[in-house]
Parts: sequence; C-alpha cells; structure tokens
Amino acid sequence: MTKPSEKVSSLKTKLREHDYHIPVLAEEAVEALDLRAGATYVDATLGGGGYAELILERLHDGRLYGFDTDPQAMTYATERLKRFGNRFTLVAENFSHLKEALTANHVTSINGIVYDLGVSSRQLDTTSVGLSYRFDAPLDMRLDPRLRRNAADIISTASIEELKTIFGTFGEEPMSGRIARWIVEERKKKPIRTTFDLAKVAVQGIREDKRNATLSRIFQALRIKVNDELGSLERSLEQALELLEKNGRIVVVSYHSLEDRIVKDFFFAHAKPKVETGSLESLKQSIDEEKAQLKLITKKPIVASEEEVAANPRARSAKMRVAEKK
Ligand SMILES: C[S@@+](CC[C@H](N)C(=O)[O-])C[C@H]1O[C@@H](n2cnc3c(N)ncnc32)[C@H](O)[C@@H]1O
Repeated sequence: MTKPSEKVSSLKTKLREHDYHIPVLAEEAVEALDLRAGATYVDATLGGGGYAELILERLHDGRLYGFDTDPQAMTYATERLKRFGNRFTLVAENFSHLKEALTANHVTSINGIVYDLGVSSRQLDTTSVGLSYRFDAPLDMRLDPRLRRNAADIISTASIEELKTIFGTFGEEPMSGRIARWIVEERKKKPIRTTFDLAKVAVQGIREDKRNATLSRIFQALRIKVNDELGSLERSLEQALELLEKNGRIVVVSYHSLEDRIVKDFFFAHAKPKVETGSLESLKQSIDEEKAQLKLITKKPIVASEEEVAANPRARSAKMRVAEKK
C-alpha cells in the first residue's frame, strides 16, 4: 500500500510539471462536470490551463471555451492547449460577459461550466500587478489591464468611509476603520504607490504577530474591489444558468467565504426548496419546486484531501459546489 507521505511526494512531482499554477481540486472539478462526448463546455477561469487540459483530454469530440483577461495566463494556456487544435477557443473576456462573448463565438447554449475563482499562484508570486504584500511592486491589482481604476487610484482617492467599507466588506477586517484613517493620514504626507508603501502604513499600529493576517485581508479586499470580483461572479452565474442545457452542470471552486456565500445562495435560490409535508407552506413550495431550475449535486461543499493540502497549501481554503440544470 502507498504511504500517505509517498502519495504527497508523487503528487508534488506531478504538479511541478506545470509550475505556472498548481490546480486545486482539478480531478474533482472535471469529474463533477460529467463530460459528454461532442458537447460544449466553458472554463470560466482558464489561468494556467490545468483544468482545461484535463477537460480536453477527457472530452471526446467536444469543444471548450476558456475565459481569462490576464495576458500572461492567456499566452501560457494557449501554448499549453495548442495540441487540441480548434477544440479549444480562447475567449479574452471577463466571465461577467459570458453570454455576449459566447454569442460572439456563435455559441448560444452550453453543457457545463467550471469556475476556479480568484487568482493563480503565478499572479500572486510575480510582481507584475502587485497582488502580494510580500513583493514590492506598483499598487495595481488589475487582472484585466483594460480596467480604468487600479488599486493605487482607490487608495489615493477613496474617503475614510469608503476604505473602511472596502476592508470591512471584502476583507472582513476587524480594524478596517483604523486602517482607513491611517491610510488617509499617510497619503496627505506622501503618496502610497507601491505594495510596500501600503503594507507599511496598513499595519503600523498592529501587533507583529497579527500583521500578515491583516495584510492578507487588506490586499484581498482591495483586489476584490479593483476587479469587482463578487459582482462579476453574480452576473456570470445568472448567465450560466440561462445558457445551460438540461442536465448541464455548474461547478464552482471558491477560496473565501464571500465567494462561497454567493455560490451557495445562488444555487439554493434556484434549487428545489425543502418541503415540510402537510403544511400550507408545502403547497406553496411544491409549486415553487416546479419552477426550480437547478438540482443540487453537492449539499455540502467538497474540500481538498489531506494529501492535496500537504502538497499544495493553497488547496486548504478551497470549497467546491456543484449544481445541475433541471
Ligand atoms: C485560480 S486561477 C485558475 C487556474 C486554472 N483552473 C488552472 O487549472 O490553471 C484563476 C484565473 O481566473 C482568472 N479570472 C479571475 N477572475 C476572472 C473573471 N472575472 N473573468 C475571467 N477570468 C478571471 C484569473 O486571471 C486567473 O488566471
């Protein structure tokens, strides 16, 4: 029998083959799509093309459309997937424009869609757009270079109230008010232009051992705001539901509670409600049932195995939810 430590090390070796990004829950997500020969699928978050490659390898005759807006990701994934010829099409668009972008490609219905939300390891570990407080870089954070407002614009113009709301809502940061005030005080003295400028001011009055956690929350919050990540997800899920054929699946892997809440609420709102038999409520709900458009495939989210988390710590926070069009 293979020991867990051997499993972890063989997983690590396998994963290192593509060090652009180590895909999380890839097997589980592709399995959950329930691929059918000749059908049409969407990878809403192409990244390094890890999921996409697995889908195309397992999909006979079918087609895959892969969305991303990050130029580096698109170049890398296109090269990786070129052996699949015209079975793969790159769509250089935000997934919030799902319907419009697919229509432009003459696709009006799909058989499944997968989202692997957030950013890739490559985006976090390179200094190009300043997503991480661990590297000094211009405070940009745009995953799509076409966006007009970057993180430095927000940090230099937002009011204390606005900054507090951003950190509180998108980062669930308990010190959001104080940090917002420090930023506004600091920028009166000198502009905050880089990740290190922001990191220095954001944790000035915070205990040493709490600083990294605070910075993670602040940087996550700003990134979500700059890229309108939650709004994009909400708009995209609506369109996905509209585009899905009967029995088509929506698979979403999320990495923080705000994303997971949106997915969960969306799935539950469109899925069969729980019925308490015999009550007047049950009559109403059985009528609602007729209208339900989704069936929940996962009642509780799927999480990564201990082995996967040991090989890839990013998998620790991943939660996968799946629903099927009725
Ligand atoms: C976690 S990575 C995906 C990794 C991919 N599953 C793989 O196996 O390589 C997320 C990717 O989605 C992209 N992304 C994030 N939000 C997006 C959006 N709203 N529209 C299109 N792409 C998006 C990011 O640029 C990033 O490349």
